[in-house]
Amino acid sequence: MAGTSALPAGGPGGIVRAMRQDNRDDGFLRDIWYFALPAHGLKPGAVTTKTLLGEPVLIGRAKTGEVFALRDVCPHRGIPLSDGHFDGVEVECCYHGWRFAPDGRCTAIPSLTAEQDMVVDKIRVRRYPAVDRHGGVWVYMAADPNSTAEPAIEPPSLPEVTDRRPGLVERIIFPCHVDHAVIGLMDPAHGPFVHKSWWWRSTRSIHEKAKRFGPSDYGFAMLRHQPSSNSAAYRILGGAPTTEIRFRLPGVRVEDIEIGRHRVCGLTAVTPVDATTTEVHHLVFWTMPWLTPLKPVLAPFVKRFLQQDRDIVERQQRGLIHEPKLMLINDADMQAKWYFRLKKAYAAWRADGTPFENPVRETTLRWRS
Ligand code: FES
Ligand SMILES: [Fe+2]
Repeated sequence: MAGTSALPAGGPGGIVRAMRQDNRDDGFLRDIWYFALPAHGLKPGAVTTKTLLGEPVLIGRAKTGEVFALRDVCPHRGIPLSDGHFDGVEVECCYHGWRFAPDGRCTAIPSLTAEQDMVVDKIRVRRYPAVDRHGGVWVYMAADPNSTAEPAIEPPSLPEVTDRRPGLVERIIFPCHVDHAVIGLMDPAHGPFVHKSWWWRSTRSIHEKAKRFGPSDYGFAMLRHQPSSNSAAYRILGGAPTTEIRFRLPGVRVEDIEIGRHRVCGLTAVTPVDATTTEVHHLVFWTMPWLTPLKPVLAPFVKRFLQQDRDIVERQQRGLIHEPKLMLINDADMQAKWYFRLKKAYAAWRADGTPFENPVRETTLRWRS
C-alpha cells in the first residue's frame, strides 16, 4: 500500500518478543530523563519506591528539600532500602542498619568494631540523578549502572507556567509497552472513534485538518496555531486561544495554550514501568484564577479522556499477542514514525557516539479527524 511502512525493529512489532528477552532488549531509551512522580506529593523527609524501566528505585526528598533517587536494593544483602528508615538525611537499611547518603555513599556499618578499618564509603548503592522541576520529580536513567558521569542532556525545559503547582494531576496505568502508550496518545486520527461522546466528538464531526509541524528539542512540535473550532474545551476558555503542542523524547508531550495574557499548559508524561506496563501522568497548569474553582468539574473529563486512551490500548493487546506486522501510514501516523526515528537517532548517539541529528523536517500534515 502506498505511503505505508512497517514499524522499525524495536517498535511495537518487536515488543512481545522483547518482553521475553533480558531487560536490555526492552525497547526503552536510556541516558535520558523520565518523569517519576508529581513533585508536590513528595514531602521533605519522605521516601517512596517505584519501578522505572524495570528497575526498583527509591525516591526521596531530604529535609533540605533536595530530591534524590537510589537503587532500592541494599548492596549488602539485597533487602529493599525502602523497607528501612529515612530520617531526612540518610537511609538506614532495616536488616543490618547500614546507612546511605542521598548520593549513594555508605556512611555507616554498625557491626564494625573500632579496630576494623574498613573503608565504608567505598561501598555505594546506585544513585540516579534526580531533579524537582515543572511539577515533577525527574529521574535520569543512565545506560551504564556504574556511571557517575553527568547526564548527557538536561531535563525538558517547559513553559514558565509549569513552575507553579499544577491545578490538576491525573495518573493512569496503561497495560502496554511504552511505545504503544506514546503513539496511542499522540495519534491524531483516533479522536472521533475513541473519544466519542456528546460533549466532545462524534464521527459526524470529522473534518479535514492541516497542521504545520517542525523539529524541536529532541522531538517535534505542532507549531502555534488556532485550535480547530470543533474542540469544545477551547471554547470554555474564552477569547481566541492559540496552541502549540510539543513532543520530546522519551515521552513528554506539552500543550501550551495562550489566551491573551493567560496561559494553560498540559503536561503528559509517559514512563515505562516494565515491558508491559506504562505509567501516564497528566498535569495541567494555568494562570487564570477563575479556572481553579472549576477543577471538580474539569477533573472527571480529563480522567474519562485518559481512561478511553487506556482502554483502547488494552484492547489492542489482544491482537498484539499474535505479533502482527503493523503499519504506519503517512500524515496521520507521521508523528509515530518521527517518534521511532527520534528514538533510533538518540539510541545510536548514546551507543556509539553518532551525533544526534533531529530527523524531523518542517512540513504540513493533513488528515481527517
Ligand atoms: S542487607 Fe542491608 S544492611 Fe545488610
Ligand atoms: Fe486519545
